[in-house]
Amino acid sequence: MSKNAEDLATQIRAAAGDAPVQVGLILGSGLGHIADEVDGVAIPYGDLPGFPHAGVSGHNPNLVVGDLEGVRVAVFGGRAHYYESGRGDAMRLPLEVLKTLGADTVIATNAAGSMRPDMPTGSIMCLSDHINFSGLNPLIGEPTDARFVPMKDAYDPQIRAGLRAAADAADVDMADGVYAWYSGPSFETPAEIKAIAMLGADAVGMSTVPEVILARFLGLKAAAISTITNMAAGMSDEAISHEHTKAMAPIGAAKLEKVLRGYLRSIA
Ligand code: HPA
Repeated sequence: MSKNAEDLATQIRAAAGDAPVQVGLILGSGLGHIADEVDGVAIPYGDLPGFPHAGVSGHNPNLVVGDLEGVRVAVFGGRAHYYESGRGDAMRLPLEVLKTLGADTVIATNAAGSMRPDMPTGSIMCLSDHINFSGLNPLIGEPTDARFVPMKDAYDPQIRAGLRAAADAADVDMADGVYAWYSGPSFETPAEIKAIAMLGADAVGMSTVPEVILARFLGLKAAAISTITNMAAGMSDEAISHEHTKAMAPIGAAKLEKVLRGYLRSIA
């Protein structure tokens, strides 16, 4: 692990205590309020050298370490996106820190557009797999053979089963599907959406995929859930804008939170 990550982990332990973290949660646009429900310590990214500046509105740039449903979690209230810096590995340091703090799992959340009429705005979708349409990779430049990361079952089947059981127990309708990563920040064209839907993608967004690749590289188990904030471009007359994303995210967020809490309870 990088010295920077070790140093940051030492700083975080000094502020939040030494108990090892079990699970990292990365919160997407409009999903930040879960961080407020953690019984723990919030550290602004600005106090953590090398952490992203998380300059996207709708994100809450704190790391919160503490207890949620009996599990020690580290909640990343803001993420760095490729489109902010042109760096695909912008989340590498936070994930290295998570691993150094003892976590074995990271669960990412995001806002996404849907290509499936049966998965309208307000739905949530558990990622079964992804398609990297950006052509970018956060491991480009990594010099070791560890860069050749297998990506079969990148979305951990056991965690997915646990999330599914939590959704069923809470009576939350949660779809399963394939997430396509476009770099953003412009939204996709209707032609792009038509193309990726034909190729097997169910939802589209601008995040998560680089984090899951990095997580697997670091030996963390990964899972991810999307909240559908709009039908993807050309699929309906619904508005597509960041404002709309932020306004619609709370509908799915309430469901997502039930699933996450139920899952954490099941592993506590
Ligand atoms: N496309 C890409 N990213 C998104 C979308 C979308 O339609 N909705 C929310 N995030």
